[in-house]
Amino acid sequence: AHDIPDILSEEFTANPYAAYRAMRQDAPLIWHEGTQSYIISRYEDVRRAFKESAFTTANYDWQLEPVHGRTILQLDGREHAVRRALVAPAFRGSELQDKFLPVIERNSRELIDGFRDAGSVELVSQFATRFPINVIVDMLGLDTSDHDRFHRWYTSIIAFLGNLSQDPGIIEDGMRTREELASYMLPVIQRRREHPGGDLLSNLCQAEIDGTSMSDEEIKAFCSLLLAAGGETTDKAIASMFANLAQHPEQLAALRHDRELIPKAFVETLRYTPPVHMIMRQPGSDVTLSGGTVPAGSTVICLIGAANRDERQYSDPDTFDIFREETDTTRSFTAAADHVAFALGRHFCVGALLAETEVRVATNDLLDAMDDIRPADGAVPTEQGVFTRGPATVPLRFTPRAR
Ligand code: HEM
Repeated sequence: AHDIPDILSEEFTANPYAAYRAMRQDAPLIWHEGTQSYIISRYEDVRRAFKESAFTTANYDWQLEPVHGRTILQLDGREHAVRRALVAPAFRGSELQDKFLPVIERNSRELIDGFRDAGSVELVSQFATRFPINVIVDMLGLDTSDHDRFHRWYTSIIAFLGNLSQDPGIIEDGMRTREELASYMLPVIQRRREHPGGDLLSNLCQAEIDGTSMSDEEIKAFCSLLLAAGGETTDKAIASMFANLAQHPEQLAALRHDRELIPKAFVETLRYTPPVHMIMRQPGSDVTLSGGTVPAGSTVICLIGAANRDERQYSDPDTFDIFREETDTTRSFTAAADHVAFALGRHFCVGALLAETEVRVATNDLLDAMDDIRPADGAVPTEQGVFTRGPATVPLRFTPRAR
């Protein structure tokens, strides 16, 4: 396996998909000295690491704990389940449809109004990185006029989370953000405890777990997680989806013609270019996977980006194809899709339906505002990131449509 580039190398960052293929083929289990972890890449192995009870979440200490504090991502068992249940209803069913859909639509349209007459847009900076943050800030009932401030904090947090090489400048900035976010949020939480409303933050403030409410610090950590988990991922999903579609004009044309294809395009985007490429797990006992045995207590890096392109699972896996037969979205897409972009098992993304709704609204609104969408300079967008990954920019040209 000596010819497979190190996951921390520039060669890997430039094109992880080639390395993923080599890993799946020749080295489905790798010991990685740099992160002191095992790496797995085959679909079946990654699925097992997410689903089987031998694997717990653990080992986020260095990555999540310093910037967020303790969140449901680091918890397991009942501790995890009762906290997850506090937010889950807001992200699905009638609460999502009736209460939050208007929030999603308002935020999408506000941003699009900023560029719809221009005939060109850089979709990442002008839309994708803003929209999901604005939505979650509004769902929490925070001050809409602070969108920019939250965008800055969010950018700093996700740089921290993706900082595999432990750059000291990024660590310092992340720590400053943790302080700033705490001094902003703690007084807001105090006020919300005294004067609750119908927003998500009020739910968290009023919730009782075994007769006691969560501490201010824990609620702040929850908000910090929602900001990062709901922002960066959906942001990259939207950017990647439009980058993929702009490279495949015939599929974009089909989607414009038949908007029912949007969930399929979303699912195929998540398979082909997942926003999260790596998730850590820790086996509680020795587990034998296809490449050998991972010992109890070790850290296992599950390569979502590799699993989603496993030729054992998908035909022609390196082709973006929204008409893929494996992707049956006639039922709910979360039930039908077999990709691992949202993970599986007890930590399966609690915001998956919210993300789908955001992407559906945004895609419809973008297609309604922009005709004849094409890459601005003809260039293929460059992806960046190894932990999370998406196009650095998506410059598009279009013909403004009449309102
Ligand atoms: C968990 C991906 C959108 C909130 C996860 C996990 C993944 C993921 C892979 C599992 C992490 C782990 O097991 O360690 C995505 C993708 C999204 C998306 C690809 C968009 C396309 C959202 C949104 C929210 C959200 C919109 C809402 C604010 C969360 C939370 C968790 C989570 C709170 C932790 C769940 C738990 O530990 O039980 N997401 N996510 N995500 N996601 Fe998402």
